[in-house]
Amino acid sequence: MGYRYAVERADRADLASGHVLRSAPGFPGFPVRLASELFQRAMVHTGRETVRLWDPCCGSGYLATVLGHLHRDRLTHVRATDVDADSVALAARNLRLLTAEGLAEREEELRRSARDFGRVSFVERAEAARDLAAGLAAAGGDLPHEAAVADVFTLEGAVPADLVVTDVPYGEMTRWEGAVPGDPMRELLASLGRVLPERAVVVVTARTRRVALPEGVRALERVRVGNRAAALVRARDVAP
Ligand SMILES: C[S@@+](CC[C@H](N)C(=O)[O-])C[C@H]1O[C@@H](n2cnc3c(N)ncnc32)[C@H](O)[C@@H]1O
Repeated sequence: MGYRYAVERADRADLASGHVLRSAPGFPGFPVRLASELFQRAMVHTGRETVRLWDPCCGSGYLATVLGHLHRDRLTHVRATDVDADSVALAARNLRLLTAEGLAEREEELRRSARDFGRVSFVERAEAARDLAAGLAAAGGDLPHEAAVADVFTLEGAVPADLVVTDVPYGEMTRWEGAVPGDPMRELLASLGRVLPERAVVVVTARTRRVALPEGVRALERVRVGNRAAALVRARDVAP
């Protein structure tokens, strides 16, 4: 898929938070177009045609699920983890929307609501679920996925992922939880560097002017859009 094509198509109402994908109070969404841009920039650095994607601070799983739909053809697996069990439960429900069965259930649920409440918006949302299913089928079908509780600061073992894209806490709606160290960004990157393959690419984004990287760590790229910034780094460059 060409860069221009994917970014243009990324402005998609069918993927808006709370439309087909589920949202809940207190869970921030993420701009779809920016998600797609970060993914495509990072893909160039992976040097791979397809990747296993991981969001280790997944919240509702919105970002991971959106990327799954936008870039199904370049993904073989999506992993979503978070320290908060309620977030992971919601993320699991959203990741199920990366399957034909999950989307059919969601379409049926929205059609039922349309009948029960007589609101046309539910019909539109049901149709969006149906269209997402058609898009998924055309781009490769069900996307294997996994959601689990994990504290990003205390990861263990090897994690089979080639690309991390994660939107980290920034204080307004979400904050760091778990075994929070003095310098969360440094420890987050060190922890990811410990468990990822050396060539994996990590995209960290936050609602900030600039993502502060640990001293001596060179970004592959930096991106700034509106009130968000992102840094792309190589896993081996942040491994302790
Ligand atoms: C900005 S939100 C992520 C929103 C997410 N991109 C989405 O699409 O819903 C940051 C997330 O980091 C999680 N978090 C905080 N501390 C964490 C930790 N130690 N390990 C893993 N996740 C953590 C929070 O629970 C929250 O869900």
